[in-house]
Amino acid sequence: MTTARPRILVARRLTPAAEARARRDFDALVAAEDMGTEDALAAAASHGAEALLIGPRVRLDAAAIARLPGSVRLIANSSVGYDHMDAAAARARGILVTNTPDVLTDCTADLAFLLLLAACRRAYEYEGMMRQGWRRGLGLPDMLGVRPSGKVLGIVGMGRIGRAMAQRARGFGMRILYHNRNRLPPELEQGAEYFPALRDMLPHCQILSLHLPGGAQNGTLMDEAAFAALPKGAVFVNTARGSLVDEEALLAALQSGHLFAAGLDVFRKEPDFDTRFAALPNVFLTPHVASATLETREAMAMRALDNIAAVTAGQAPPDPV
Ligand code: DGY
Repeated sequence: MTTARPRILVARRLTPAAEARARRDFDALVAAEDMGTEDALAAAASHGAEALLIGPRVRLDAAAIARLPGSVRLIANSSVGYDHMDAAAARARGILVTNTPDVLTDCTADLAFLLLLAACRRAYEYEGMMRQGWRRGLGLPDMLGVRPSGKVLGIVGMGRIGRAMAQRARGFGMRILYHNRNRLPPELEQGAEYFPALRDMLPHCQILSLHLPGGAQNGTLMDEAAFAALPKGAVFVNTARGSLVDEEALLAALQSGHLFAAGLDVFRKEPDFDTRFAALPNVFLTPHVASATLETREAMAMRALDNIAAVTAGQAPPDPV
């Protein structure tokens, strides 16, 4: 006797191996193009999906959650962040929500460190010179960056990714300060210095890197006063969420030279980000790709499918939020 496979909606494109697993293990409706909210709601209803695998383009606020068909028991985010949805509203409807922690920790910290180095060492400007043919030699005082090694790095959000950033920074001889809701035990702190108040930490940070969730819980953490509290010549790095930053204040700090540079992977509006950033030479930009390696994107998709497999088999999901 064959039992019907669970019906699921995969609302974003997956890696080939993950898509093959989704089609093999489930009665899966797989999006040919990444779906937006309305398409996902319609497809979930027409397919009678028990579980939805979504990415950040499917924005599920409380009103959208209320419109999900009664068949849905699980929303499996294929990302660690889930600020694109109202998880509390889903839970109130009895719908489980999961994310994909751990698997993207190293890649996100790697990209944050890439941004840190690129911003400090003027990678965008040097690269542009080379692509234009170089031809004019640089003298001893020309186009100087700032030395990352030995600097004081402030980390906001000392979860898995923040700690992975600290691990990389230790290799560069940096002194590490951190702000977090709670102080970590010594074995996780590994010598990093705790500041219960962000404002007390900022004046000491030659480099500041954000590693905390976006959304209502953290609001616009980096506003005009916060940027002003950083020492002149500081470098700012964001691989967390654009919503944490007042972009007008960031632009002003970069234009005035109060900040030496920034490395940014995330923006308040994506993909149609504020292109005034692209006009600044002291910004190194990437298009929200911190997790974008073959290994990590595959692992994220598989982790979302693990959660779906557990819930559709009547078990607890490994990664509830
Ligand atoms: C995440 O998982 O939250 C990353 O930002 C990729 O979207």
